[in-house]
Amino acid sequence: MMSLRSAEVPVIDISLLNGGDISAKREVARQIDAACRGSGFFYAAKHGIDLAKLSQVTKDFHRTITDEEKWRLAIRAYNPAHQKQIRNGYYMPVKEKKAVESFCFLNPNFKPTHPMIESGAPLHEVNVWPDCEKHAGFREFQESYFFAVFDVAQLLLKGFALALGKGEDFFAQYFKKENTLSAVSLIRYPFLDPYPPAAIKTAEDGTKLSFGWHFDVSLITVLYQSQVENLQVETPEGWQDISSNDEFYLVNTGTYMEHITKGYYTAPKHRVKWVNAERQSLPFFVNLGWDDAIPPFHPLEKEDDKQVEELPYGKYLAGGLQELINKNGQT
Ligand SMILES: [Fe+2]
Repeated sequence: MMSLRSAEVPVIDISLLNGGDISAKREVARQIDAACRGSGFFYAAKHGIDLAKLSQVTKDFHRTITDEEKWRLAIRAYNPAHQKQIRNGYYMPVKEKKAVESFCFLNPNFKPTHPMIESGAPLHEVNVWPDCEKHAGFREFQESYFFAVFDVAQLLLKGFALALGKGEDFFAQYFKKENTLSAVSLIRYPFLDPYPPAAIKTAEDGTKLSFGWHFDVSLITVLYQSQVENLQVETPEGWQDISSNDEFYLVNTGTYMEHITKGYYTAPKHRVKWVNAERQSLPFFVNLGWDDAIPPFHPLEKEDDKQVEELPYGKYLAGGLQELINKNGQT
């Protein structure tokens, strides 16, 4: 079924959140607030990242990695020999059944000597990387990308904080380079001829999908995608297409933002349409640290009596990721 029209996805100049012009910052915050109470999605422009380079480096990686290398990097769900790789590593394609494949990596600061790695805390892993000679420069590029997109997220969160009536550094105390559980997924959707029917899901309204409806398990999500329209968001008017743009980041809130704002910013329900085209989806899932817990507040109601329990991020993330696998299957 066709959606009636495209979703309202404003383009917001986030560079204005740098510097000292407070009225410009408040205007950005107003636009973020309107987007979060609208479709739940907006495009972040003037982010300062070379997205064409990110796309090219990732394309070269996906084009040259062999099946043998994929197995050597595979997460535990595909290769039981890799017990420590629950999140980080290669998410395999499955012949005739699953077309999508991806490589996910976590905070490069999670080294063997990091206290959370030493203590064996869940969700923390030391990244595995492909052979540095076969994939020259890949690891270095992606590790520096992690910190570059972290900075974009930090800037975005200044806007979210102002939009929610907090000081601009409100989220900085919870979102830190040394312990963030954030992740980058380098997702490849291939063109296949023929395309295996078993790799296509069908929604209740008949729309063919690559990934079923869900809410993001994140504080916010900061996404680069190829210029191929594929996302849909559920609105009061039904499912609507999200226009694609490969120069901007697509930003949306996850369910942790919904939790801490007592539902003021709801996480948008969205899904991935099936498109037979070679394309990339490269999300940065903005996560806090294991012990971080933002006390829930409602930005408009000073003395609200809606009690919402404080939720430590690690517990939230572990539960949320498992629920997503239970509902939509292993990615
Ligand atoms: Fe999503």
